[in-house]
Amino acid sequence: MNRHFLKLSDFSKDELDGLFAMTRELKAKQRQGIEHHLLKGKTLAMIFEKSSTRTRVSFEVGMYQLGGHPLFISTKDSQMGRGEPIKDTARVMARYCDGVMIRTYGQEIVEEFAGYSSVPVINGLTDLFHPCQVMADLFTVIEHRGSYQGLKFAWVGDGNNMANTWIEAAAIFGFDLFLACPEGYEPDAKVLAWARERATSKIAVTHDPKEAARDADVLNTDVWASMGQEAEQSAREKAFAGFQLNEGLLDPAKGNCMVLHCLPAHRGEEITDDVIEGPHSAVWDEAENRLHVQKAIMAKLMG
Ligand code: CP
Ligand code: NVA
Repeated sequence: MNRHFLKLSDFSKDELDGLFAMTRELKAKQRQGIEHHLLKGKTLAMIFEKSSTRTRVSFEVGMYQLGGHPLFISTKDSQMGRGEPIKDTARVMARYCDGVMIRTYGQEIVEEFAGYSSVPVINGLTDLFHPCQVMADLFTVIEHRGSYQGLKFAWVGDGNNMANTWIEAAAIFGFDLFLACPEGYEPDAKVLAWARERATSKIAVTHDPKEAARDADVLNTDVWASMGQEAEQSAREKAFAGFQLNEGLLDPAKGNCMVLHCLPAHRGEEITDDVIEGPHSAVWDEAENRLHVQKAIMAKLMG
């Protein structure tokens, strides 16, 4: 098992399935109030260069439940915000802490950090990938459907960090993934090429949301403008106008389809209030599962 958790493609299907098995155990223990101090006395530094609600709280609570200590660090309040090199910060952190979680912009920043870190580094979101989120999403699908196998997944919206991570997941786990993105907002070409080269399943990109949603078991979307793209908001509102996850898009999907959204959601933009609050929505389980999946990741890497 790779020492760092930077992207799904660093792992085999068996390793990731192993994390789901551990997630199930840890979730059951937490629900039953059984102590599971697998990281007693250990410390996780959590470095944030972007805002967060779920990632911060779930890592912080998760570390506490594992008997360890989390440490919140905002780049702007640390020397990183004043330009201290990544490679210096990485080596210093490893002298104090047993693991580091980072949320930042470029994937190359987490890769460089990990390259200089003698302790495990976990990607808490970059512009390219959000691996902890997609692991939580898939765990939610497993809980609701028993398995991800044989299901058709649809992505409607931006070809962003979430879409790229879903593409890696489809190739690794072997499920069909249909993405509908506006022209000019397709997923990362390198990620797509990597996935198509190894995938035994179908990974398709279309510009038609209904085509992606047809007979889908799982419908997934995310904000039109991600963190760092705030200045593009009005241009994106125009480009994404037909890419809303609404009741009309549930029609072509399977009758029992699940709706996922990593949150935060912009109701009335990428998803409607009735869909996110409706009977198909699994978004609260999905958010909760960030906690359980990340505890498994930390326990495996730092235990
Ligand atoms: N889904 C997710 O990563 O949420 P936060 O931005 O609140 O951490
Ligand atoms: N694509 C979004 C995900 C937020 C959890 C972003 O990067 O802002």
